[in-house]
Amino acid sequence: MITYDLQLDWRVDEEANERMTEAFGNLVYEREKGVAGYYNLPEDSKLIVSEVRAFASSNETIRTCDTVVVIGIGGSSLGAKAVDSMLRHRYPEARRILFLENPDPVDILGKFATITKERSLFLVISKSGTTVETMSIFKAVIDHFHIDLDGEDRERIVAITDEGSALCRFVDHHGIKAYTIPHNVGGRFSVLSSVGIVPLTLAGYDTCSLLEGGASMVERFFDAREEHLLIKAAFIATHWKRYRMNVLFAYATFLEDFTKWYVQLWGESLGKIDRCGNRVGPTPSGHIGSVDQHSFLQLVMQGPRDKSVTFLKVERFEKDLEIPDIGLEHIQKSDFVNGHTFNELINAECDATRRSVKMEGVPVDSITLDRVDEANIGELIVYYELLTSLTGSMLHVDTYDQPGVEAGKRILAKRFQKGANG
Ligand code: PA5
Repeated sequence: MITYDLQLDWRVDEEANERMTEAFGNLVYEREKGVAGYYNLPEDSKLIVSEVRAFASSNETIRTCDTVVVIGIGGSSLGAKAVDSMLRHRYPEARRILFLENPDPVDILGKFATITKERSLFLVISKSGTTVETMSIFKAVIDHFHIDLDGEDRERIVAITDEGSALCRFVDHHGIKAYTIPHNVGGRFSVLSSVGIVPLTLAGYDTCSLLEGGASMVERFFDAREEHLLIKAAFIATHWKRYRMNVLFAYATFLEDFTKWYVQLWGESLGKIDRCGNRVGPTPSGHIGSVDQHSFLQLVMQGPRDKSVTFLKVERFEKDLEIPDIGLEHIQKSDFVNGHTFNELINAECDATRRSVKMEGVPVDSITLDRVDEANIGELIVYYELLTSLTGSMLHVDTYDQPGVEAGKRILAKRFQKGANG
């Protein structure tokens, strides 16, 4: 179960109500007309789970694998990575998932050194099928591990891409297995499509429950509107010039990759030029409590009053540890927590920080998971996706495109072409 609590000190007026109704209608339209396909993934991807499970159990190459190597970047890696990080401690027996994302030679070679080809399955994930980082790392994998694309090695490769993409044509050519991504599902909204579901199912996670959690949020939202979601989106959309930054303060180390996924989802979806030509968008910023209480919190408390803060916490951790009742000479000042658990401490820190931030007049809201399990994670993912779509609709931007990242790609290509010519 997840509870959502808004402490925004904001009264929804007539105008905000209209915005909420309009945005809700827009999402209903997007879903009905297939403008955005992610709304259907929690239902549609159940088929992928059964297919992957059947494929994995009938395939000797996969049965003997202990590592799933994901080659992908942005929306093609961040979602699965976030889920893997959140669930890993509950599944000590799950296959390792190794993410090759960044064209950083130290990172790539360091990870290569931990991979045994005979015990690995390589998933090359790219919706467009042409992303330079992903394709370059894929080539490095082929070269480093002497992968024979037309021999038995092709059993070790699976592609996830759009139907008809360049990568799709490549794997067809070599008879390599592929899963497709629905055309109307964009990279950063694709974690519950084959992009996330294939690697997570192969690793051994209960992806059916993940999808069920997502489905329950989709259903509740479209049946009963989930008013808190609409109010939060309306608050962000109407106040983003004043509260320019939304800080996600997540109280668990294993939530760090989730904060990265959220930063990508918001950054690429909401930072846009709106239909009137204005540059708009709240800035997402991800932080981990309590570590960043000793860092970024100072800026929230006494820096510019331009932030809203979302506190994300887990009520009951899977494992716990008591703070020993030991008095150490001269450092008795911290003894007040002796005998309590770390689970209690981290959550009390979250509550205390939220109160102190609220007392400074900063708008806050809280998302509390009773525990970390697949269903809650699925719900949390869909919650953030819906929040992003609603906010994008209220900001009058195209939530699903990302024209701003293209210019750098063109400059990069030109630079290498020049290098080759000259
Ligand atoms: O959300 C997005 O659309 C992007 O972040 C993409 O996921 C990222 O650029 C990777 O693209 P592709 O999957 O085409 O390799």
